[in-house]
Amino acid sequence: MKTEKKGSAVLKTILFTEATNENIEAAAEIIRRGGLLGIPTETVYGLGADALNADACRRIYEAKGRPQDNPLIIHVPDSTWLSRYCENVPESAYRLADEFWPGPLTMILPKKDVVPYRTTGGLDTVGVRCPNHPVTLAVIRAASVPVAAPSGNTSGRPSPTTAADMVEDMDGKIDGIFDGGACSVGVESTIIDLTCEPPRLLRAGGLPLEELQRVLGTVLVDRCITQPVADGEHPRAPGMKYRHYAPKAPVTVVTGDGEKSADYIARHAQQGAGVICFSEYRALFPGRVIHDLGPEGDKSEQARRVFDALREFDVTGVPEIYAQCPDDAGLGLAIGNRLKKAAGFHVVEV
Ligand code: TXA
Ligand code: MG
Repeated sequence: MKTEKKGSAVLKTILFTEATNENIEAAAEIIRRGGLLGIPTETVYGLGADALNADACRRIYEAKGRPQDNPLIIHVPDSTWLSRYCENVPESAYRLADEFWPGPLTMILPKKDVVPYRTTGGLDTVGVRCPNHPVTLAVIRAASVPVAAPSGNTSGRPSPTTAADMVEDMDGKIDGIFDGGACSVGVESTIIDLTCEPPRLLRAGGLPLEELQRVLGTVLVDRCITQPVADGEHPRAPGMKYRHYAPKAPVTVVTGDGEKSADYIARHAQQGAGVICFSEYRALFPGRVIHDLGPEGDKSEQARRVFDALREFDVTGVPEIYAQCPDDAGLGLAIGNRLKKAAGFHVVEV
């Protein structure tokens, strides 16, 4: 891989491709000595560092170009680590961990003093997640420290869902990237705030809201999931205030019945425009650049493809983008949220 000069530092990014004990140990050593490692998870790739090392966490912000007030979540190998890093862990956290960990769920809990404010962006709470990926679980166990990891993209870009995406954004800026294959979920974890009553959904993600409601009963849905965050507003998940995943071209999301939204896009999208559509409607957009989001009824596939669609259109340089959008049930809430954020919440309902 290429070596890049950044400031005065020259970093050669090692690409680990085989999950051998030797590679796991070498990757864990990068974490232990305060380096930066691209890690595979089932949701998206993360940019990992020792969560207890403030200096290492500072470097995560630098590599991503991430605002310093946007907290990092920490990754642990199982729920027995919760009480090491969190204060007053409620019984509901263990119930959720039993049901959904390892998996795409991040819980916000009061932090213990060992977790540096550098990691939590100055907050007294910390987000904790147990990722469902054998490589990353093995690396965390071998390193014996929780791994802080935001999504591995450069700030403002779509989250990486393959090692190649990680290389594109981070080659030359970090110590290593572990290729663990394409992410099986494709959107980031669901975030639930357990420091309030009732608990509050801060980010729709790979675990559907309905699953949380089944275990917790009432769950409030933070308004930043469904509406744009106003200037000067301070959402509970600080990251929600930043414009994310915004392709260079303006995006219009068209919600509602699939046939109707396809028809609307066919009538409005100019020649050469980008169209993100369900597989069933591909043939309706001749002369446009199509990204197939997957079958209309298969939200798991749509979740795996959504970031790819947004990344691709940055490369192809289309003048405008129209996107069909699933309804809010199940994974649809997360997929729709990512599309709508990319559109700056420019949504047409048909
Ligand atoms: O699936 C995921 O969660 C991925 C993989 C790598 O695990 N990670 C990820 O991290 O998406 P990141 O930093 O890109 O998104 C975490 C979000 C940010 O919007 C951040 O503001 C919010 O979680 N967050 C982190 N700690 C928080 C806290 N203590 N209170 C409220 N929000 C928090
Ligand atoms: Mg992110």
